[in-house]
Amino acid sequence: MSAAGPLPGTGHDEEALWQRELREQFPIVTAHPESAYLDSAATSQKPRAVLDAVQTYLTTSNANAGRGTYPWANRTTELVAQTRQRVKEFLHDPAPDRSGVHFTSGTTEGLRGVARDWLVPYLTDGDEILVPHADHRANLDPWLEAQRLLAERGVDVRVRALPYQEVSGDYDHRVLDGIVGPRTRFVAATHVHHVYGGDMNVHRIRAAVGPDVPICLDAAQSVGHLPVDVGELDVDFVVFSGHKAMALPGTGAVWARNARGPVFRPGGWQGTPNTAGIVSLRAALDWLEAAGPDRIARWTAGLTGRLTDRLRHLDPYEILGCQVSLAAGSALPAAQRRHGIVTFRHRDIPSDDLGFILYSHGFMVRADNLCQAGRGEKDGSVRVSLHVYNTVEEVDRLLSVLESLA
Ligand SMILES: Cc1ncc(COP(=O)(O)O)c(C=O)c1O
Repeated sequence: MSAAGPLPGTGHDEEALWQRELREQFPIVTAHPESAYLDSAATSQKPRAVLDAVQTYLTTSNANAGRGTYPWANRTTELVAQTRQRVKEFLHDPAPDRSGVHFTSGTTEGLRGVARDWLVPYLTDGDEILVPHADHRANLDPWLEAQRLLAERGVDVRVRALPYQEVSGDYDHRVLDGIVGPRTRFVAATHVHHVYGGDMNVHRIRAAVGPDVPICLDAAQSVGHLPVDVGELDVDFVVFSGHKAMALPGTGAVWARNARGPVFRPGGWQGTPNTAGIVSLRAALDWLEAAGPDRIARWTAGLTGRLTDRLRHLDPYEILGCQVSLAAGSALPAAQRRHGIVTFRHRDIPSDDLGFILYSHGFMVRADNLCQAGRGEKDGSVRVSLHVYNTVEEVDRLLSVLESLA
């Protein structure tokens, strides 16, 4: 038994068949059986249903949205509106009449939009905001920029750091409890960490800050990988990259609850939306829903457990992040599991070199500092990130190569 429960593809034939059927729907994956794409945290591959939806749209009703009066334009406007609804459904929005969905190019643009267009007008002199300092820099820079913009207007806002804690695998909650105060007006957090792979346990943040403080969740590594339920998470913004969730490059969205604080209204003239990308996002969410986000999560958790169970015993490798979870076996709380992301170093082989070596064996992994913000890892690393199209055989092949390098 792996740390994450039964292993996929080992006696669980129904799961293996289900996965094979899904994998066959990815043309780029099946066209390259000799390679293994292990970089889904950077961007996902796209199933045929998504490619077909885009082709159909572009060859039957391509026009601009919200502008024309003729059928193609009306159809495009309708598709954009339907995708907004689809995003709300996919996120299990408990009050869809009140919330809003704004399309972006990805998480970076979405978080920046929340910072500039919502946070800046919302904060007043002396307010405090809590932001992560070891997560993706897309979830730090916008909040620092908001602080700068406010300072230029004479509004002094304090930014307090939410540190990562290796033992619990989420934010350091002793620090969190110590920095929450009556002036805490906003928290930015991450759902699944892009380096350590852990669920950052936003429930504990909600418990610490109480019911009234808005929380913005960077869900770049969770949407498409596991069920995301905004009612249950009790957050106010969910920002994600469609392109990491099976949709086309250049797609993403901000979901805003619009219940705590002002309504989110993206500022400025928005211009022509990425209609083909938005169409692809709808098809991607349909595809993911049909596949089952909980099933996808079980599959990738099984692969992750298989990888870490062996890798942690290979002497020259250091797996980054929560060490407790590596040894905890099936007793592991869900929040401490690695969700399809395993980042590691080799004691003697620099990470860039390890990346090249792995590519020479057909493995596409990420090898650098992974865009981690200020208080992140100082040295480079190799990140393996898995999705539903990855197989047990790919993980085993990777392990054999890593073993040969040990
Ligand atoms: C946690 C996290 N946040 C934000 C981003 C940025 O996403 P994008 O490049 O789609 O804007 C990433 C991308 O790797 C990420 O992993």
